[in-house]
Amino acid sequence: MTVLVTCVDKRGKPNIITLAWTMPTSFKPPLVAISVGHKRFSHQLIGETKEWVINVPPWKLLKKVELCGIRSGRVIDKFSLAGLTALPSERVRPPRIKECIAHLECRLQNEIRAGDHTIFVGEVVAASVDEDAFDFERNIMDLESFAPVLHLGESFYSTSKKVVSTK
Ligand SMILES: Cc1cc2nc3c(=O)[nH]c(=O)nc-3n(C[C@H](O)[C@H](O)[C@H](O)COP(=O)(O)O)c2cc1C
Repeated sequence: MTVLVTCVDKRGKPNIITLAWTMPTSFKPPLVAISVGHKRFSHQLIGETKEWVINVPPWKLLKKVELCGIRSGRVIDKFSLAGLTALPSERVRPPRIKECIAHLECRLQNEIRAGDHTIFVGEVVAASVDEDAFDFERNIMDLESFAPVLHLGESFYSTSKKVVSTK
């Protein structure tokens, strides 16, 4: 699933990077890893300030997701470029993105150099979700009201409305 990760520089100025390479890695403590290329501006910011937020975008944000994945925060303010709204986070300095349906606030727990990317492992210190987009009975995203952005590669994307239970 494709996400928008927010991070900040030392003065608190926020940036957004689109990432498809993410994965949960632990329940206790709750850890999620992101893989960020060494040349990305966000790599520098996360290395310096050691906090970020994983924001989950709905399908209707596809164009903005792509924009944040082709332009660099070194030269442009992506919040204004993409027309996204910064919402203060509960526990970390990087803001959440209001238009996204779920937010995982992360603090650096470990970092692993992996070829030309770094795997930043973050401890989730706060989490929030748009209640309409979550099925609290089954404890899964509610695909009736939320369509994820799935990156297939290059400029190809997909989404899914299909839920299957094996029980
Ligand atoms: C759909 C999509 C997925 C991407 N996934 C990743 C990723 O997992 N890791 C990464 O380092 N860059 C990824 N990128 C590229 C960065 O988002 C892109 O280089 C961005 O412009 C970097 O912004 P920054 O310089 O402001 O940090 C992806 C781009 C797109 C469009």
